[in-house]
Amino acid sequence: MFDSITPDTLRATGSLKWTAIPGTIGMFVAEMDFGVPPVVSECLRARADSGAIGYLPRRMADDLREATAEHMSAAYSWKVEPASVFLFPDVLAVLRETLRHLVPDGPVVLPTPAYMPFLTVPAEEGRELIEVPSLVEDGRWVLDYDGIDRALSGGGLFILCNPWNPVGRVLDRDELAIVEQIASDNGATVFSDEIHAPHVFDGVHIPYATISERATRHTVTATSTSKGWNTPGLKVAQMIVDEPFRDTIATPAGLIEGQINTLGVEAATAVYRDPGEWLATVKAELDDRRHRVAEGINSIPGLSTFVPEGTYIAWVDASGLADRVESPVRFFREHGVSLTDGAHCGTGYEKYMRLIFGTTGPILDEALERMTRAVASLD
Ligand SMILES: Cc1ncc(COP(=O)(O)O)c(C=O)c1O
Repeated sequence: MFDSITPDTLRATGSLKWTAIPGTIGMFVAEMDFGVPPVVSECLRARADSGAIGYLPRRMADDLREATAEHMSAAYSWKVEPASVFLFPDVLAVLRETLRHLVPDGPVVLPTPAYMPFLTVPAEEGRELIEVPSLVEDGRWVLDYDGIDRALSGGGLFILCNPWNPVGRVLDRDELAIVEQIASDNGATVFSDEIHAPHVFDGVHIPYATISERATRHTVTATSTSKGWNTPGLKVAQMIVDEPFRDTIATPAGLIEGQINTLGVEAATAVYRDPGEWLATVKAELDDRRHRVAEGINSIPGLSTFVPEGTYIAWVDASGLADRVESPVRFFREHGVSLTDGAHCGTGYEKYMRLIFGTTGPILDEALERMTRAVASLD
């Protein structure tokens, strides 16, 4: 299905991923190289043909609330009331409005490594950020529960990212239950970013808010079709909250709803009502790629990674190159592969890199070959 995709066809689209750093394979931004599902292109084409690209009508917003609830029920057996779904342009807008209106006091507690903007948005909102470095146990990244408990002792907002960008973990019920206990004990709110939920390979995605009644009440869930179905440029995300957050956020969310892209709402509604076939095809591709990326990276001297359980992101430890390479990300960019600098994912991760593997087999192989050759050139 994706055989015709090549670096040339991707560059010709003019996408950020393929044009921002010329001469390199773009693996630094969380987009996939697989285009969008037919349901998205068809509905966008139909709307363009109709010329009806006006401000967002209330009826369409309500339709997306309903479609979101239907999808959460069908995909995760999560009963969400449409009135609990609020629309924002993106997940970071959900976070900002959470900080402004739902959790106006206390620190923001963030397990690292983390999605880069989670490290900068709290300060932009005038808030204290407490980073809690995560641990590696039995060959996988795990949360440092004691560290999180200490950081949350004064309450505040805990940012949970599950599936976890950048380490690719999918937290299981026991892990989520520990988070729930800590948040409840400390009277904290949990911001649960579940944007990567459609891409789970090992285990299942469990919406954090479904873990218990306490979790339902203390959680702000943020999600979007943007990762699963590759639509980030359409700018629409969903916040899901229960009472009493619902009443507090209704007015600010209502004001922001006017900024949302009408086309994005139409596409997200269509995807939630028809999520299946394309997603299954893409997941089969990614399932192959996640093993291929781990095998390839682990065969390069000085680099290591774990097989991601979810997402299309691999977290690569390049500390084995430390005595020969000052900045791994600059080094690999000079050798034709653009990755994300781990330093942007939290303090102390300068020797790590984030690799987006949502691409075709031949392109991933070429990137791994370039990285292999780059390291060999150090000898
Ligand atoms: C974990 C996570 N959260 C949020 C976002 C932001 O997505 P969007 O801007 O489409 O809402 C991303 C994008 O890469 C992400 O990986």
